[in-house]
Amino acid sequence: MRQTRILGVGMYLPEREVTNQELEAIKELETSDEWIRQRTGILSRRFVSEGESGTDLAVHASREAIDNAGLSPDDIDFVIYATLSPDYFFPGNGCFLQDRLFADRTIGAMDVRNQCSGFIYSLAMADSLIKSGQYERILIVGSEIHSTALNFTFSGRDLSVLFGDGAGAVVVGPAPNGHPGILASALHSEGKYAKELWTEYPASAHHPRISHESLDQGRHYPQMNGRMVFKHAITRMVEVSHQVLAEAGKAVAEVDLLLPHQANMRINQMVASQLGIPEEKVVNTIAWTGNTTAATIPICMHEALKQGKLKENDLVLLTAFGAGFTWAASLLHW
Ligand code: UT7
Repeated sequence: MRQTRILGVGMYLPEREVTNQELEAIKELETSDEWIRQRTGILSRRFVSEGESGTDLAVHASREAIDNAGLSPDDIDFVIYATLSPDYFFPGNGCFLQDRLFADRTIGAMDVRNQCSGFIYSLAMADSLIKSGQYERILIVGSEIHSTALNFTFSGRDLSVLFGDGAGAVVVGPAPNGHPGILASALHSEGKYAKELWTEYPASAHHPRISHESLDQGRHYPQMNGRMVFKHAITRMVEVSHQVLAEAGKAVAEVDLLLPHQANMRINQMVASQLGIPEEKVVNTIAWTGNTTAATIPICMHEALKQGKLKENDLVLLTAFGAGFTWAASLLHW
């Protein structure tokens, strides 16, 4: 059976950098650079400017990934777009991206709604589609805009300091003969915790979907039980990492690089330490990106390549946890 390999990687962050000091200056937020740094490891993040959409970010990241693969948009035959912050309720962002990048070709485009695990879920789907022979070159993009949904007052400060906007993309296709490619993927969900990290409005579950009352109550902002998410994230990311290693018959000591989801530096330090993976084998970008949910892992991959840390034949472990709860891992032979 043929295997799947990542052929190219791209990323894009909006130009506007927002430092912790800038957030500290928002009086109603009652936060500080020191608190954000110590509790999360974040120093700055990027926010879009008025008029810049998630699709805009995705276009930049996708172009770089396609170019980095040595391909042109004409070579792509399917699009998977992972996001929790689509430009509109419907249609999905995959369609907007199809129009921007492949306007003269009606290739399939779908959205994946799995929050922070969205990229790994998408990679696992793409892996199956490549292995089955249905497609030859699939573009996967994770793109998010959080800044337009954050509550910059005291009641939203736990979340508003954490998130950033950005996009990351990869192109996948068949691995050369004999190359092991993606060795194992594992996907999980536990919907009983769906409301521990969620956005309640607007929603088709409400009549009407949004109201003056819900707006006045700030129920269109995301809400999170931070401590609970934190604890579950560590347990599940470690657990699912062991699962993919076992499925692939590999030991932790064989892992060359861990590219974890970027939600909190302390989560990643604990995950690495509980797995027994030394710091120098981990790439983090959270200090300058914040949490970009579905975009974090391809952005991390891009950074690892840039730093020369990700090399041919490396064993690479990806793991993520987020709203849903959903969590996932993937083990790749690079
Ligand atoms: O992508 C997956 C989804 N997200 C995550 O994985 C995030 C998971 N959770 C976290 O990263 C952490 O729980 C947070 C960073 C959100 C919070 O850190 P924490 O160490 O768990 O803090 P805490 O919620 O226990 O709060 C400690 C204190 C509280 O004050 P008191 O009650 O001790 O007086 C909070 O009110 O910190 C306060 N606090 C803040 N202070 C300054 C909470 N947010 C802020 C803030 N600035 N932004």
